[in-house]
Amino acid sequence: MSMENYEIPRHVAIIMDGNGRWAKKRMMPRTYGHAQGSKTVEKICEDAYRMGIEYLTVYAFSTENWQRPKEEVDTLMNLLRDYMKDCIKTSKKNNMRVRIIGDITKLDTDLRESIKKLEEASSKNTGLKFQVALNYGGRDEILRAAKKFAEDYAAGVLPEFGAVGEADFENYLDTAGIPSPELLIRTSGEVRLSNYLLWQLAYAEFYFTDVLWPDFDKKELQKAIEYYNKRDRRFGGV
Ligand code: IPE
Ligand code: IPE
Ligand code: MG
Repeated sequence: MSMENYEIPRHVAIIMDGNGRWAKKRMMPRTYGHAQGSKTVEKICEDAYRMGIEYLTVYAFSTENWQRPKEEVDTLMNLLRDYMKDCIKTSKKNNMRVRIIGDITKLDTDLRESIKKLEEASSKNTGLKFQVALNYGGRDEILRAAKKFAEDYAAGVLPEFGAVGEADFENYLDTAGIPSPELLIRTSGEVRLSNYLLWQLAYAEFYFTDVLWPDFDKKELQKAIEYYNKRDRRFGGV
């Protein structure tokens, strides 16, 4: 499929869902699905950038995911550990800038350090801008932003209350400086937001597919973009 005549969204957000079911279908433990899913992420970053997508934001671990069995949470954290380390190399190779969104203060010290290293090492890269949502929840993000906002307001560093606009508040979100996604993709057939990018997705087009995340590939991404091109993007007007 040629993408030549397609309008490519500048920012694509993905809810990578279905790792557990993918593994179950193969009589394997859920954690095997997560390992496979993490390989898919790497491939999709390259495909997305080649297609002309500038920003890609993926949901890796939600504020609700702590409720999973300890063993699964531990495996996910270990996968993320490996991922952050490998990513220093991959980001250099493909010129990708990586940023973590979410409340990382709740993560183990070593993982936080790897994140810092990765963000610093890739900060000057000019290719794909890749955001990983980790211990991320849209409500949590908005609440953290509101608290910081209130602090700064009390300190007098913000405009008059009446003059405060959406752009002033957006500066306090984890995604400060990043344009809102035009397209959201969720795999595995679930049709909900699961607390993802609640503020930022206000005007995104939503694409849902039954494909499980480890099976998601370039062709599936192209289908999502094809769908996006069929939408009539009107913003509130006629
Ligand atoms: C998505 O796959 C990955 C994470 C939420 C970390 P799931 O683990 O949710 O897989 P299913 O939905 O149970 O199949
Ligand atoms: C959303 O998937 C979170 C991530 C993909 C990281 P979940 O599988 O955790 O969402 P729910 O629980 O089905 O809503
Ligand atoms: Mg799931």
